Order: sequence, then C-alpha cells, then structure tokens
Amino acid sequence: MAKDTLDVTDGRTGARYELPIELGAIRAIDLRKIKASADDIGLRSYDPGLTNTASCKSAIGYVDGERGVLCYRGYAIEELAEKSDYLETAYLIVKGELPDAHHFAMWRHNITTHSMVHENIKKFMDGFRYDAHPMGMLVGTVGALSTFYPDAKNVLDLESRRLQTRRLIGKMPTLAAFAYRRSRGLPYVYPDNELSYTGNFLSMLFKMTELRYEPDPVLERAVDVLFILQAEHEQNCSTNAVRCVASARADPYSAVAAGVAALYGPLHGGANEAVIRMLEEIGTVARIPEYLKGCKTGERRLMGFGHRIYRNYDPRARIIKELAHRVFEVTGKNPLIDVALELERQALEDDYFVSRKLFPNLDFYSGVIYQALGMPLTMFPVLFAIARTAGWMAHWAELVRDPEQRIVRPRQIYVGEGARSYVPIEKRPEPVMREDAVSRTI
Ligand code: CMC
Repeated sequence: MAKDTLDVTDGRTGARYELPIELGAIRAIDLRKIKASADDIGLRSYDPGLTNTASCKSAIGYVDGERGVLCYRGYAIEELAEKSDYLETAYLIVKGELPDAHHFAMWRHNITTHSMVHENIKKFMDGFRYDAHPMGMLVGTVGALSTFYPDAKNVLDLESRRLQTRRLIGKMPTLAAFAYRRSRGLPYVYPDNELSYTGNFLSMLFKMTELRYEPDPVLERAVDVLFILQAEHEQNCSTNAVRCVASARADPYSAVAAGVAALYGPLHGGANEAVIRMLEEIGTVARIPEYLKGCKTGERRLMGFGHRIYRNYDPRARIIKELAHRVFEVTGKNPLIDVALELERQALEDDYFVSRKLFPNLDFYSGVIYQALGMPLTMFPVLFAIARTAGWMAHWAELVRDPEQRIVRPRQIYVGEGARSYVPIEKRPEPVMREDAVSRTI
C-alpha cells in the first residue's frame, strides 16, 4: 500500500529507515538519525546554492519554473500586471488578500504619509563620494533607518510590524530618488502626496523648476507595471538574505538592507544593468553571432538569460517585452531593442541555450525600458529594490510569525586540515610553499 514515507537503506550499515514525507519534502533533520557508527553525528544533505532545499513554508509567491507560471497569493502575474496597480499588489502580497475600497484607501493613505524621511538622511546622502553607486547609497541609508526607528526592534509586535511595513514601502522611493539626485548633483525633491506611488517617484527623480511635475500617464503606468512584476519572487537570493538576517530577530530595516545588498549583485538585481552594458558592447546585430560564441565557450554569460527556477520563458519577460513597445511610442525607440530582439531570436534557435533551457528572464527587457525612461544604468537595481520591498516585508512578517522558524544556521562539510600544532614563525616552511598554500584559500 502507498505510504507518505521515504524508505532508505544505508549501504554502509544495511540499516533501514522510514522518513515521513510531508508536502513533497522530507525533513532534513530526519536524516540525522542515519548514522554509520555510534559516534557519527548523522547524515546531512549537501546543497550548495540551496538548489533543492526548502527553508520555509510560504503562502506568498508561487513559481512553476517548468511551465513558466508566477502567482502572488494565487493571482497570476499576467492578470495583476493588466488589472492591478503596484500599491494594490503590494497590499495583496503583504496582507494576503486584495483590499476592498475602504481598506485600499487607508493603505494608500498610510503609505503616502510615510514617504518623508528624516532630514538627517540628506546628510548621509551628502556624505557619499560624488560618483557613489546609488545602490551602495541605498544599502547604507536603508540600514541607517533602523537608528531612527528603534521601535522597529519589537518584531513580535503586530502594530510595530504594520508600521514598519508602511514606512519601508513609503520611504524606499524617496531614498532611491535622493540617491539619484545626489549622483546628479541636483537638489532633493520632497514627496508629492497628490501623485500616485509611481507618479510621485518620477516627480522626485525628474522634477526641475516646474511648480508641479506632471508624469506622463503611459510612463507612470509602465513603471507601475514593472514594479508589479518585480514585487515578489519567493525564495530568491535577496529574499533569502532578508529572511536570514530577520531570523536573528534583527529589525526589518537591517534585514531589508541585507536584501538590497544581495540584489546589488550582477547575478541577481544587477543583471538588468549588465544587460544594457552587454547590448551596448554588442552594438550591432551583425556582432551577435560572435558574442554568442563567447557565451557558449564560457568566456562570458548571456546576461538576462537563464534562471535558477524558470526552465521555460519567464512570464514577466513576455509582459515586459510588450510593455517596451508602449513606452517607445512616448519616448521614441531605444535602438538597443533591435539588438535585444535579434539576440533573443538567435539564442532561442541555438542548441546551447535550448538544451540548457536558458530563456530570457525579467531583466532581459526591463533595462531597455528603464533606459528609455531616462534612468541611468546604475538606477536599475535601485528600482528593483523599491518594488521588491513589498515581497521582502511579506516574507519578514511570515518568518517572524512562523513558530517553526529558528535562527538560520546551516551546516558545513569540513574539508580542511586536521588538528595540528602551532609552528613559530621562524620555523615555518619556505615562502614559495607558503604562498602556494595561501593561494588556495583566497
Ligand atoms: N549564459 C550562458 N550560459 C549560461 C547562462 C547564461 N546566462 N546561464 C546559465 N548558463 C549555463 C551554465 O554555464 C551552465 O552550463 P554547463 O551545464 O555547461 O556548465 C548551465 O547553463 C547551468 O547554469 P548554472 O550556473 O548552473 O545555473 P544557475 O541556476 O546556477 O544560474 C543564473 C542561474 C540566473 C545565475 C544564470 O543563468 C546567470 O548567470 N544568468 C545571467 C545573469 C542573469 O540574467 N541574472 C538574472 C536572474 S533573474 C532576476 C533575479 O532573480 O534576480
């Protein structure tokens, strides 16, 4: 008779074990009872990059990478991108349900009225070097917010969690825009509460001497859709970083600063910036075959292609590709789009990419749109960070409320030296040998 168990025979000892299967998983801790000898600490699973390890149960985002499906709280990303707006989607992600009109008005009001930052934040911004990357500024200033809100340490308090969530979603665009203005040597623009979330963000970025900035509705909507697409993506590197820091009961500003830092990496949120650099380097359609050759020999990666989870077309990439054309009707065509479209076409006909199931991801086309909107490359991951704040806060709250969660403390498989005695410096081996040994470690 079928049973929800995994029956294991340990080849080393011949012992048999029955491990319960729950929700398609065994508990890694159950492996510990599998021992080769009495003093063995028990079997561990080895999973670099956590490719097949579920670290939590989550009800927020769902990704089916084989079929190219992404849902937030059960709603398909395609439907949200078409019918919702970022603030409503953020509500859904954080609270689990779409709001009614009354609750949505309250949410909008609460986020909007938390968009101001303490004046001293401007001094932090001013302290960065003139050419500081805005993502580096964001890591620093988000973390610094924790010093302004010591009440955020009450992570087990529901009201405090709600307040920090409003504050963080409200303030991220302000911090991001301040970082941009700083890098341009422009005066900071304060939030305009009469504008939408994304309209206000565009105002804080681009307002010059006009009394009121009027965002173009097509571009305002385009940024809103991009924010919806980037709002949540279950256990990715940055969300895992947020959860890891939060597991130590750190305040959410510190946890989100860790998420922003992870997102800074070129293999994660920095990929759309890297895509534009790549498209600029390729320059013309004629140079694509040569560039793809380098990707296939492992000389470089085709940025914006491939995904740990999607082994099919990333549904977000499809939406963005269509969005690009609407944006170009207002801004004029970004010439890089022709290179991008042809690059995608050739890659998807190439056995190297097809056999590895490498398809365009979210970042392949998002950079082309951001560039057309007038954003400098360095701002791309910053925009991603604003959008992802909703997902991070939802995961933070889920983790804090989950009685099964404990401080993150993975195991390792030690492969270093055995116990040895300290050797005085004058008696250590020849320099050549030492250098050789050191070069193996860093
Ligand atoms: N270009 C060329 N080859 C690639 C690429 C690529 N973009 N991505 C993966 N491969 C190859 C890789 O060399 C390996 O080949 P082989 O089996 O011969 O050694 C195979 O495909 C599997 O690659 P992997 O590194 O094991 O895959 P991964 O799941 O660890 O990496 C990834 C996922 C997204 C880091 C990777 O695909 C990549 O570096 N892509 C480019 C960067 C990028 O676009 N990142 C944005 C990700 S989406 C947004 C986000 O979640 O932040």
